[in-house]
Amino acid sequence: MSTQHKNLTQTPLLKILLLWMGCNLNHGKGSSVPQFCNSPTVIVMVGLPARGKTYISKKLTRYLNWIGVPTKVFNVGQYRREAVKTYKNFEFFKPDNEEAMRIRKACASAALKDVAAYFTKEYGQVAVFDATNTTRERRAVISSFAKERGYKVFFVESICDDPEIITENIKQVKFGSPDYIDRDIEEAMTDFVQRIECYKASYTSIDDEKDRKLSYIKIFDVGSRYLVNRVQDHIQSRIVYYLMNIHVTPRSIYLSRHGESELNLLGRIGGDSGLSPRGLKYADALAVFIRGQQIKDLKVWTSHMKRTIQTAEALGVQYEQWKALNEIDAGVCEELTYEEIQENFPEEFAMRDQEKYRYRYPKGESYEDLVHRLEPVIMELERQENVLVICHQAIMRCLIAYFLDKPADELPYLRCPLHTVLKLTPVAYGCKVESFFLNIEAVNTHREKPTNVTISRKSDEALQTVPKHN
Ligand SMILES: *[C@@H]1O[C@H](CO)[C@@H](O)[C@H](O)[C@H]1NC(C)=O
Ligand SMILES: *[C@@H]1O[C@H](CO)[C@@H](O)[C@H](O)[C@H]1NC(C)=O
Repeated sequence: MSTQHKNLTQTPLLKILLLWMGCNLNHGKGSSVPQFCNSPTVIVMVGLPARGKTYISKKLTRYLNWIGVPTKVFNVGQYRREAVKTYKNFEFFKPDNEEAMRIRKACASAALKDVAAYFTKEYGQVAVFDATNTTRERRAVISSFAKERGYKVFFVESICDDPEIITENIKQVKFGSPDYIDRDIEEAMTDFVQRIECYKASYTSIDDEKDRKLSYIKIFDVGSRYLVNRVQDHIQSRIVYYLMNIHVTPRSIYLSRHGESELNLLGRIGGDSGLSPRGLKYADALAVFIRGQQIKDLKVWTSHMKRTIQTAEALGVQYEQWKALNEIDAGVCEELTYEEIQENFPEEFAMRDQEKYRYRYPKGESYEDLVHRLEPVIMELERQENVLVICHQAIMRCLIAYFLDKPADELPYLRCPLHTVLKLTPVAYGCKVESFFLNIEAVNTHREKPTNVTISRKSDEALQTVPKHN
């Protein structure tokens, strides 16, 4: 026990709490997003090909990384593609193809070894193991591998017998697969269907009776029904909650900042001012744009701040106000210009430039706090279909980072100019992004990271990247 913790842990209650959490409480300063310091978790995907395992793996991984839990996918198919450069046809997957079976087993072992390295060397917390062959026998191998090393295991099985959904999955995903890159569509379809047959012979679903000691969720027909068994901890319960909220119905999410505000014009951050004359013009332009998109059952969300509400008013439709969408609270720096922040709080200003994601304004918030505050918004966005979110610069950066899988260090520098709508449409494993500038001029509010971020920097170095304002 380090001396730092000695005093703390002399309190018996705290000591018990620490032990119970399995935690050394050695977090960075001012972090409010829950830290997951339990033993690492291996999530094992189970299910026949074309049941959305890769889709779920990627999406869940993106979510966990966004909430601050380091997570990585280990896709055994990818290992196989690296080992066997060219894929001929389904015969590779036949159970009597001994050479291929040996290669595939070696790939699965290599992937497991990398999982262990990810936990010990890269501070990973969750590994999503995406393999197609997870017969009961193979599942037992993974379970004992994890048990030996003190990892928790959670199985996610996707079960689907609806031929329409399966065909759609094959189309969506397999035509993006490197295995079929230069193949004729019909030929690829036929081959893939035969490949699925190869797995059907040995596939065993998780059994409610025989596997009752395992922790798992079974997802039936892309979420029309679920079965959840033995959730062991906080992270597993969050995973279950997330998986029960996502859907695959086609839709688009539109993100926009409010129109230019009076304080934007003055280069002052935060506050709760109304729109500038150009901001009001944007609100009208946004209304025209949205009508032009002819969106079915569009929901409109704003923050509790005047500038987003004024922007939404121009649309002439119902909208819902979310306090969670309010702009980052700049605390003692609210309504100051960057020049004034440098003058009054030069050290704070430099510290923010050093680590913008985690930096918390005195009496205010950090980007990390925002992600925490926005989690219910993300969950509801996952549940909804077409939504227009009218929000703020820092908020929009957090939302974009979630949808486009941007890491925490890039998040606070993502470009979200005023008077520009981003349209996000889920496609296969990712998200299509379209950007529409609505042709109404506005001030630039984007401040790049300056070259010099030391506390001792001179004022002009600190102000190097401040955008022009009145
Ligand atoms: C899956 O793995 C099991 C056990 O290693 C093996 O017997 C079976 O043939 C495999 N199935 C396929 C389709 O690879
Ligand atoms: C930053 O500014 C300080 C003080 O002016 C100076 O000593 C240092 O060399 C500068 N660093 C960089 C990277 O420009």
